Amino acid sequence: MNRLIVVSNRVAPTQRGRTSTGGLAVALLAALKENGGIWLGWSGEVTAAPARAPKMVTVGQITYATLDLSQKEYTDYYNGFANSSLWPLFHYRLDLSVFSRQFFDTYQRVNARFAAALVPLLKPGDIIWIHDYHLMMMADALRRGGVKQPIGFFLHTPFPAHQILTALPRDKTLIRALLAYDLIGFQTEGDLVEFHDYILHEAGGELLDDNRVRAFRRTARAQVFPISIDTNNVANLAQQSQRSRRNTRLKESLGGRDLIVGVDRLDYSKGLVERFHAFEHLLQRYNDLRNRVVLMQIAPPSRADVAEYMEIRRTLETAAGHINGRFAEFDWVPVRYLNKSFSHRALMGFFRTARVGLVTPLRDGMNLVAKEYIAAQSPRNPGVLVLSRFAGAAQELTSALIVNPFDIEDVADALQKALKMPLEERRERWRSAMDVLRRNDVTAWREKFVEVLRKSHTRHNRA
Ligand code: UDP
Ligand code: G6P
Repeated sequence: MNRLIVVSNRVAPTQRGRTSTGGLAVALLAALKENGGIWLGWSGEVTAAPARAPKMVTVGQITYATLDLSQKEYTDYYNGFANSSLWPLFHYRLDLSVFSRQFFDTYQRVNARFAAALVPLLKPGDIIWIHDYHLMMMADALRRGGVKQPIGFFLHTPFPAHQILTALPRDKTLIRALLAYDLIGFQTEGDLVEFHDYILHEAGGELLDDNRVRAFRRTARAQVFPISIDTNNVANLAQQSQRSRRNTRLKESLGGRDLIVGVDRLDYSKGLVERFHAFEHLLQRYNDLRNRVVLMQIAPPSRADVAEYMEIRRTLETAAGHINGRFAEFDWVPVRYLNKSFSHRALMGFFRTARVGLVTPLRDGMNLVAKEYIAAQSPRNPGVLVLSRFAGAAQELTSALIVNPFDIEDVADALQKALKMPLEERRERWRSAMDVLRRNDVTAWREKFVEVLRKSHTRHNRA
């Protein structure tokens, strides 16, 4: 069997007990644990003179190869091009996007540095799978370094409307480099359509048979592979942790009230401000729910050196304080707002206890929390998922209560409906969502991608 070489900027922590709070690391860890392989990425460290060769650590079946970033790389590549140019742009926040040549040049250099570090680790039969917007230009650098193995790319975020992408200076350089991959994977059909539109209308390219596209004298295959979760594992974890001490304490603290749970990195794409407003509207509009319901929002800080992330943190603190100031009673605090991360095990227990899972991003590639909430429910007495239509997960979890996260009243009404929903309807909706997650779990996602990548690998075009 071929070795799988995974590359992503963020690598799951190698130390026991550390939590990774991002869908990419969580999904890849589940995928790699099964067959093992190498995982190359950023160590999370910033050092004055980073070594060229990666630090190698083997844990179980997985060998982690990690690289430090220099201060300039951290500022211009990670905080800069990746998280101040591409991330906002790909999440339709042109108003928050910052562009600079320096960011782009450093991004290109880091992609080349990751490629140079990977080359000596490769063996002939390897399959290389590179992830996310941080490393869109890495295959181009690997090909220039003489690498012949199949190279696939998976974009975990949305792919934006082509007219939004053209706001990015040097968009064509980026997409031309992307076409050096043999296979480009997207989360949803909508993302693929936008990519096709870019190829046709901006790159002057064409769509070929067999899911291939051609532009800038390069051909690549582009397909949809909705990422998923380790469904059985989540269900087991949830079942085990429902009687944990932590969960017993959570239930006691609720005093018989219903729990609505939200779990998101503290990111403006997650719609947290709108979510808080919707919850406030719920309490204002439906009097009977006062003192009957609690919103627990877990929001671990993320990318804290980027200005927009500092700003959202301040805004949310104010919003939570405002709702609690307005509605709290001596024995009830409506919003529990927690700026810290929890282990997967703890979260799955919380999900099982919560009557409602509230997932309302303004844009999201997939949103694994939505899938985890479903998989964590008790089959006999499941809770209800309220899900944004702008999360990739809404394409699959159609039996959730689908809402427009910009429409505060719509979200408040859906919350009320979820809290009042009869058991039979809850079971029916849950069964239908669970069927989807049993069919497409993280193993199916990985196997399908790798199988198509193997087939897509042809002699590579050079421009
Ligand atoms: N997560 C976690 N602990 C936390 C918060 C989040 O383990 O305190 C996990 C969560 O269970 C999910 C992932 O981080 O698996 C978040 O993925 P998602 O796709 O929802 O959002 P992303 O952070 O990738 O935008
Ligand atoms: C999203 C991105 C990932 C990223 C994660 C956490 O899931 O798609 O690429 O790793 O957020 O963000 P961070 O900047 O901490 O890696």
